[in-house]
Order: sequence, then structure tokens, then C-alpha cells
Amino acid sequence: MKIHEFEKGLSDRVAIITGAAIGNGRAFCERLAEEGAKIVIADIADASETVEAVRAIGGEAIALTVDCSDQISVAEMVKTVMDMYGRIDILVHNVGMYDEEPFELISFNQWKKMLDINLNSMFLVVQAVLPFMKQDSFGRIIMMSSNTVWLGTPYLTHYATAKMGVIGFTRSLAAEVGRYGITVNAISVGLTATQRPINEKRATSGTILQHILPEQAIRRADEPEDIANVVAFLSLPASGIITGQTINVDGGAARH
Ligand SMILES: NC(=O)c1ccc[n+]([C@@H]2O[C@H](COP(=O)([O-])OP(=O)(O)OC[C@H]3O[C@@H](n4cnc5c(N)ncnc54)[C@H](O)[C@@H]3O)[C@@H](O)[C@H]2O)c1
Repeated sequence: MKIHEFEKGLSDRVAIITGAAIGNGRAFCERLAEEGAKIVIADIADASETVEAVRAIGGEAIALTVDCSDQISVAEMVKTVMDMYGRIDILVHNVGMYDEEPFELISFNQWKKMLDINLNSMFLVVQAVLPFMKQDSFGRIIMMSSNTVWLGTPYLTHYATAKMGVIGFTRSLAAEVGRYGITVNAISVGLTATQRPINEKRATSGTILQHILPEQAIRRADEPEDIANVVAFLSLPASGIITGQTINVDGGAARH
């Protein structure tokens, strides 16, 4: 195939973006809609503001209320998408949970919840969409990891364990499904401007800021749009030769 023969944009493609009620996920929806994709938002929270944002730029979007860590909820979501559109071309699995805690204070329940939201949800959603991508011999699966897995940032043993799991999953699945025209990639996201100070009262508050920003070659936090541009590239037919990769989008923090 010559470069000029690559399909341009994502017209008529259907993209599921999980965890897109707010934050980075909303930017992914807007960016993929700009490329022409029909957007399905799968979030446990109300995502109507993201739907409005996509429609405001002339895109098409629906929001489904889904608990991505629940198998039945995920199965219902995928059935709804197939009934409505008859295809699933792109999955951006953006659902994630972040928490800072010194290792010795992490309860077993906290540990299990971290793995549930970051890893089990990924297993469930990817396994549910894969048969439909195989059926069409095309698929783009994009996962969110974190540059903290390379940096060894403290107080994140539970989070870093889950996000390193995303990378192992990505490499292994990519090797399995490449023959069906499906690519599987991860983005190792750096400190992003969406990040809210969820642990304001904790002694560890500000850990990420203190440890990561001084390490960056480009000393500003990621904007959601920085990551959305990479999501768009990895979604396009033209990126079909790239799979099993984890791309650092982090201002060069993880360059050592
Ligand atoms: N923001 C950062 O600095 C940063 C850095 C590295 C990696 N990441 C990763 O990027 C992704 C997005 O980050 P963010 O900061 O935009 O997240 P966020 O916390 O702002 O948004 C997460 C979304 O996921 C939804 N969600 C949570 N649990 C869910 C479930 N069980 N089912 C369905 N939806 C659920 C929430 O309602 C929310 O809309 C996450 O995977 C995160 O770990 C973020």
C-alpha cells in the first residue's frame, strides 16, 4: 500500500472511549470526533457534558452509563453499540483510578480496588469488543499507562503495579491479534493538567509535582490535547504498522 492510498481520517468509524465524562477522556472524544469518528462514551458517571462538547464541534456522540469493572454492565454496553452501529473500530480504554499512599498504609481493599478499576476493567472491555474487531479485520485498541512506572515515584506501589500490568497486557495481546488487522498500544501518560488534588489532606500530597516536573525536559504538565493527538494518530489506519508499543507522552520525564 502506498502512503497516498491510506484512508484519511476516521469517517464512519465507531470509537468507544471509556472514562470520558471528564478529564483526558473528554479531549479524546473531541479529537476523534474531529477525525470523523462516531463517539460512544462509556462512563459510570454522567457524561452529558462530553456529549455536548462533541456535538458543539459538529461531531456525533452518545453516552452510556457503564461500570467497566462489571462484566454484565460491559456486555450490555457492547450489545447496545453493536445494535446501534453494527461495528466497533476503536477502543480507547481510559478508565483509571489514581491514589497516593505509603506502601505500609495500603489496605488490602485499596490494593484490590486499584487493580479492579485499572486492570480488571481493561480485561473486561477489551475481551468484549475484540470479536467485533476481528470480524471486520480492523481494530485499534489504546490503553492508558503512566510514566510513574518508569520513574519509580513513591507512594504509588498499587497504582504503578496496575499501570505496569497495562504494558504487559499490551505487548502480549498485540502479538495475538495483529494477524486480524488489530493494533494494541499504550500511552504512558505524564503529569496531566487534569489531575485534581484528590489527596489534599495527606502527607504525601504534591508528591507527583515534586518528583516529576523537575525531571521533565519540557517543564510543563501534559495538556489533555497532547495525549489526544497521540490517541488520534494511533487510531488512524495510517498507524497500522505500530503495535505492542508504549509511547511516553510526558515531556521527556521518562527519558533516562
Ligand atoms: N491525569 C494524569 O495526570 C494521569 C497521569 C498518568 C496516567 N493517567 C491515566 O489516564 C487515564 C485518565 O486520567 P484522568 O486524570 O483523565 O482520569 P479522571 O479520574 O479525571 O477520569 C476517570 C474517568 O473514569 C470514570 N470511571 C472511573 N471508574 C469507572 C468505572 N468503573 N467504569 C466506568 N467509568 C469509570 C470516572 O467517572 C471518570 O470520568 C487514567 O487511566 C489515568 O490513570 C492520568
